[in-house]
Amino acid sequence: MTEKDRVTIIARRDGKLIALESGQVVDGGKTVVVEGLRVCPSERGRGVAGLIQRITDVYIKQVYPSVNIKRLTRRDNPTPEQLSKFNILARRAVLSLIGEAKSFNSFVLDLKAKLDSIEKTEQSTTTNNQLTVLKDDQQLNAILLDPDLSTRLQLPGGAIIQDCLPLKAVESNLEILKSTNLTWLADTSNDKPRFVSFYTPPYPIPFNGGSLRLNIDMYGEDLPLARKALITHLKQVTGEIHGTVLVHIYMNQTLWTGMQRFCEGDEGVKQFQDYWEQLFLERELS
Ligand SMILES: CC(C)(COP(=O)(O)OP(=O)(O)OC[C@H]1O[C@@H](n2cnc3c(N)ncnc32)[C@H](O)[C@@H]1OP(=O)(O)O)[C@@H](O)C(=O)NCCC(=O)NCCS
Repeated sequence: MTEKDRVTIIARRDGKLIALESGQVVDGGKTVVVEGLRVCPSERGRGVAGLIQRITDVYIKQVYPSVNIKRLTRRDNPTPEQLSKFNILARRAVLSLIGEAKSFNSFVLDLKAKLDSIEKTEQSTTTNNQLTVLKDDQQLNAILLDPDLSTRLQLPGGAIIQDCLPLKAVESNLEILKSTNLTWLADTSNDKPRFVSFYTPPYPIPFNGGSLRLNIDMYGEDLPLARKALITHLKQVTGEIHGTVLVHIYMNQTLWTGMQRFCEGDEGVKQFQDYWEQLFLERELS
C-alpha cells in the first residue's frame, strides 16, 4: 500500500472487510495495472468484484488523469462476455509444479542429468548456449531498453510480465522491476540476447495450509536455453525454500510441451495442473 503510485481500494459491508482491489500506475503514468482482486467467499457471485473494479477505475482516473489504459492479467477462463470488454494482448503458457522443498535438490540433479544427455545428442545446436546471471544494473538496463527486445524475445503484448504485473520495457518501469529483487538470467552468446528469464523471491500463499509460491518468467522461444534457465533458477532458490513449494513457470506457448516433458517423471516434484494460460488484457479507461 505504501508503494509509489499504487492505489488500494477496500470494500466493507456492515463494517466488515469484504473485498479488495489494487492498481499501480506504470508506463510513465499512461497505464494502470490492476491486480490483487479479492472478494470474501460469502460475498461472491453477487457482482462485488465488478463493483469494486468500476469504483477503482473511476478513482484512479480522478487521481491520475493521465492514465488512459487499464491492463490486467487473468488466470481463470473468463466468459466471452467478460472478454468482450477487453483486447486480448497475449496468452502465456504456464507449467505448474509442486513438491516439498527437500525434493527439489534431487529434482535439479535429475534435470541436470537429463540436460547432459540431451546435449550429447543435440550437441551441434546447444553447445554455444550460455546463460549469465545479470548482476549489473547497467547490463540489465541495456538489455531491457534495447528497442529490438520485444520482437526478438516475442515479449507478450510487448511487455515484461513479472508474475501478474505487465510492464512495458521503458525506463520509468525499471525501478518497479528492480524493487522486487528479481534474479535475472540472459543468454550471452552475443550482445543481443535471444532469451531472458528471472525468478521472483518465493512468497507465502495460503494453499495447502501454508505453502511457498515461486514464479519463474521466461522470454524467448529457445527450448535448450529454457531448460538451462529452469535448472539455474531452481539451484539459485534452493536455500530460500521450505515446506510445500508451488512453482509456476510462465513461458511462450511454443516451449510448454518441451518443458513439460523435461520436467516429467520425478517422484518428488510433480506437475501440479494441466496446461493453463495467463491472459494479458487491456482496455481504454475513459
Ligand atoms: C475472482 C473473484 C474476485 C470474483 O468475485 P465475485 O464478486 O464473485 O465476482 P463476480 O462473479 O460477481 O464477477 C463480477 C465481475 O468481476 C470480474 N472478474 C471475475 N474474476 C476476475 C478476475 N480474476 N480478474 C478480473 N476480473 C474478474 C468479472 O469479469 C465481472 O466483471 P464485469 O462485471 O465487468 O462483467 C472471487 O471469486 C475471489 O476473490 N476469488 C479468489 C481470488 C482470486 O482468484 N482473485 C483473482 C485474481 S488474483
